[in-house]
Amino acid sequence: MVSTAKFARNILCIGAGYVGGPTMAMIAARCPQYKVTVVDINAARIAAWNSDALPIYEPGLLGVVKEARGRNLFFSTDIEAAIKDAEIIFVSVNTPTKTFGAGAGKAADLQYWEKTARMIKRVSTEPKIIVEKSTLPVRTAAAMSRILNANGNNIHFEVLSNPEFLAEGTAVEDMKNPDRVLIGAPDTPSGIKARDIMVEVYANWIPRDRILTSNVWSAELSKLVANAFLAQRISSINSISVLCEKTEADVAEVARSIGMDSRIGSRFLASSVGFGGSCFQKDILNLVYIAESYGLHEVASYWESVVLMNNYQKRRFVANMIAAMFNTVADKRIAVFGFAFKADTGDTRESPAIAVVRQLLDERARVVITDPEALDNAKTDLADCLDQVEMVSDPYMAAQGAHAIAICTEWQQYKVLDYKKIFDSMEKPACIFDGRNILDHEKLFAIGFNVFSIGKPARKHY
Ligand code: UDX
Ligand code: ADP
Repeated sequence: MVSTAKFARNILCIGAGYVGGPTMAMIAARCPQYKVTVVDINAARIAAWNSDALPIYEPGLLGVVKEARGRNLFFSTDIEAAIKDAEIIFVSVNTPTKTFGAGAGKAADLQYWEKTARMIKRVSTEPKIIVEKSTLPVRTAAAMSRILNANGNNIHFEVLSNPEFLAEGTAVEDMKNPDRVLIGAPDTPSGIKARDIMVEVYANWIPRDRILTSNVWSAELSKLVANAFLAQRISSINSISVLCEKTEADVAEVARSIGMDSRIGSRFLASSVGFGGSCFQKDILNLVYIAESYGLHEVASYWESVVLMNNYQKRRFVANMIAAMFNTVADKRIAVFGFAFKADTGDTRESPAIAVVRQLLDERARVVITDPEALDNAKTDLADCLDQVEMVSDPYMAAQGAHAIAICTEWQQYKVLDYKKIFDSMEKPACIFDGRNILDHEKLFAIGFNVFSIGKPARKHY
């Protein structure tokens, strides 16, 4: 282990995933005076962070990691030694939705968090600042504080909430130049002292007026609410997309005109096959669970409808495909373009493509999936039905002999393919279902495709 003596602060992050890895790399790159260590129970993941083949695909991230790795950024599996050494510990372990017991399907599964807290308590010999980085239900910090500070060994742990707002695919830019950083701390002398230390860390590269402080509960809730509001915008515009398909309206035109109202704003109004990602659904369900646990059923069902609308949008996409393809896709080859939950990431958690592919398989379609970064994760997601799907990295090969293409991820490269060449290699009539509205639909129609998009009238030759 590298000596801590020459560093101004010793920071540790437990959990080297999509959140922990990039955020710590950025802190280390921006603060060479701090030692930053990232640990994980997954040895393969740590080995990957120590190589040039990082475990996650994120544009620009390798450069940031390389700037600091070996200088003041270290990836290790020696969790206990790292805990002993650290003054500030970020906890960034996974908090998936519970799949069992009370709250199954909605509440957060806190077992990884609690195990981490117990380990911190067991091995620490000095006071520490514990920072919640993973998204957690409101008041988790209080529970963690109780676990950490119970049966006093006279070591004080100050638990803060510092939710992460980065979005995958743009994580590096988001962290370099965040809209805001939020630090929730208890209003006690030790809480304020810990908060000020965290403010000082971020002030190394972020203007002070963008570093917000609040109480712990507000910080925890703000993270859930930010994601709920963002997801709500997508479900709202997706609900309008259904209406547009039934009428002569075009959802992109509607989004543009409402988005120019500065009170509404133009972002997060791109109608799609549905939102995915590890956060939106999980955080809304968490909010729903919290509201229900306080008996606030109207509040709970209001937010739950955002997820229900999203599920409807995914189902509807496949239903439209079947209807357009003469009410059967059985034995028809269908090329799914994109499996990641959004462009510029290999992450497939809650990706709408999973639901689309599974429904197509239920209908006995022959599915071929292509994606520039997500095929490894796709293999894990579809482990139970791998014998029924084909995966190829070349979209031209995927489309060969297909009856239809379904665009599920808005990868830039799909916008610039030679669609005439693709059309010529497909079965006829050839259909294209643009689940991201990224293609030039007029041009595709002129080539001969039957074009079905989200929230726009279909363009059919038959
Ligand atoms: C989100 C939040 O944006 C981020 O602040 C938080 O820290 C984590 O959750 P992320 O899930 O990485 O980030 O991606 P995001 O860009 O928010 O997209 C989420 C999903 O919504 C994707 O599937 C995306 O394709 C979809 N989306 C987004 C739309 O369908 N339409 C839009 O207009 C925007
Ligand atoms: P996120 O998107 O929130 O970063 P990930 O699943 O990508 O979530 O990452 C969480 C990481 O936390 C995983 O790499 C997992 O191995 C790690 N992890 C889970 N429990 C522990 C633990 N007790 N100690 C160390 N690492 C852990």
